[in-house]
Amino acid sequence: MERPAWAPEGVDMAQASPARMYDALLGGSHNFEIDRRAAEMGKALVPDLPRVALSNRAFLRRAVRFLMDQGVTQFFDIGSGIPTAGNVHEVAQEIDPNSRVLYVDIDPVAVAHARAILRGNPGATAIEADLRKPAELLAAAQETGIIDFERPVGVLLFAVLHLLGADDRPGETVAALHAAVPAGSYVAISHLTTATRPEDAAKLGANAADQSKVGIHFRSREEITAFFEGWELVEPGVVELPLWRPESDLDQHETPGRSLGLAGVGRKS
Ligand SMILES: C[S@@+](CC[C@H](N)C(=O)[O-])C[C@H]1O[C@@H](n2cnc3c(N)ncnc32)[C@H](O)[C@@H]1O
Repeated sequence: MERPAWAPEGVDMAQASPARMYDALLGGSHNFEIDRRAAEMGKALVPDLPRVALSNRAFLRRAVRFLMDQGVTQFFDIGSGIPTAGNVHEVAQEIDPNSRVLYVDIDPVAVAHARAILRGNPGATAIEADLRKPAELLAAAQETGIIDFERPVGVLLFAVLHLLGADDRPGETVAALHAAVPAGSYVAISHLTTATRPEDAAKLGANAADQSKVGIHFRSREEITAFFEGWELVEPGVVELPLWRPESDLDQHETPGRSLGLAGVGRKS
């Protein structure tokens, strides 16, 4: 298969990537055959899988609007993915055109596409960095000048911490981000869970391990809640994706009680 124009040189087209698999699940066009096959295998195991992705995107939009209601106008979106409808900068800049957004991803396709759509947008950019190396990530973020780390920041970790295994010490990474932002900052987290449908979680975890070098680590409610240590959880706490401050029926992509994702928002005081 020939490399499409949107794919940066050197990208491995024989290896599925979580960013492109997720894009395929959302019906996007920045994915390869191998990613579509992996997404199809996931759907064959758990047919409502695309609904989890939609439910997660709906939480992302509600969380950004909530943070803006709290006065946060700058966002540090880590594991931001391949841009799709309703991105953080679109939600934030529609409310306040001066909002600032720094997208971070480890996947070169995600970063290249984000840069392309952000051309001409002085308040937003994208960098390639690794959440597993928070010191380097924070240094690279400072260098962009997009975020003023003296003012409250919205740290966004949507559907990314479950791509980090225990050996990657995700809890320490979240703690490093907590230390880097001032009081009045927030963290928003969504995460795949074993809490609701443990059998489906096990099937998808095993499938991901087969399909890509990066595993998916479904975690319990307690493990996900532990990421908020040091942050003050805002109401309603860590809940299923569609139950976090739903605004309308459009937020109900998954049936409560069956959502494969948990979500929460915490404040640094
Ligand atoms: C499932 S997508 C989520 C995209 C977006 N945050 C959302 O919720 O719609 C997860 C993203 O995390 C990125 N990612 C995985 N491991 C990462 C790491 N160690 N550092 C930065 N990004 C990472 C992937 O490349 C992918 O784009």
